[in-house]
Amino acid sequence: MKLAEVPKHNNQTFRLVQITDSHLFADRSTIFDGLNTFETLKDIIALVGAQQQNIDYILCTGDLTQDSSIEAYHHFIEALSPLDAPQLWIPGNHDIRSQMQQVLDQNSIQLSRSVELGNWRIIMLNSSVEGRVYGLLDQKELADLDLELADSERSNSHVLICVHHNCLPVKAAWLQQHSLKNSDELFAITDKYSHVKGILYGHIHQESEALRNGVKIMATPSTCIQFHPDNDEFTIDNQNPGYRWLDLDPDGTINARVERIEDKSYNIDFDSTGY
Ligand SMILES: [Fe+2]
Ligand SMILES: [Fe+2]
Repeated sequence: MKLAEVPKHNNQTFRLVQITDSHLFADRSTIFDGLNTFETLKDIIALVGAQQQNIDYILCTGDLTQDSSIEAYHHFIEALSPLDAPQLWIPGNHDIRSQMQQVLDQNSIQLSRSVELGNWRIIMLNSSVEGRVYGLLDQKELADLDLELADSERSNSHVLICVHHNCLPVKAAWLQQHSLKNSDELFAITDKYSHVKGILYGHIHQESEALRNGVKIMATPSTCIQFHPDNDEFTIDNQNPGYRWLDLDPDGTINARVERIEDKSYNIDFDSTGY
């Protein structure tokens, strides 16, 4: 499928789907904290297929694989193929950008690029630091963001920013140390502009929504295991896998909701001490 070329007109709402933290392995039968991550991703894609029509873009916000193998990226592409919608990818801490680059089908998947969608611009930021769990936006990424925001302001677009790592703090101490290290530098840029409407991420394997300076800041569950939001030691939560859909309205409003698998129970290993 070709990337959508959506004309700029003012009365259209765009439907996006966010898929995040699928943590796939080269060996599809691998069990990860009690779950088969390929199976749970396929369950999520079936749920998306049943709930969504006419998806304008799928936002794949990192940790697509656990082992960053070429095979695992091919499994990811195969799992999402029933949705037949263009995809925007960014790497997470478990991904390797050069490996992702090798599997891209340039007609339907783009990596770390911004796109125009009517009077919206979606900006995909790379916060991954190879070999590290925490996130950081380097100076070039920050400078590019500033340019994108100045440019989109001139063209009267609203902006949604996607990044893998959380830019707002989490309660769980073990997870907080793996956050985006320079959220202050990110906010110093976004605070200059009133057309930034949303910031969206994965990484923390839990749902949250907050409003900061008029910007909707959203975290989305993983398609596999969930992290307990409060416990200071690594703890797996008992919530099922999920995804998020978002509607971008022409007036700059973002309506969004998390959906989870409801009709299936998984053999999650709650005694696991890490991932
Ligand atoms: Fe993750
Ligand atoms: Fe992550």
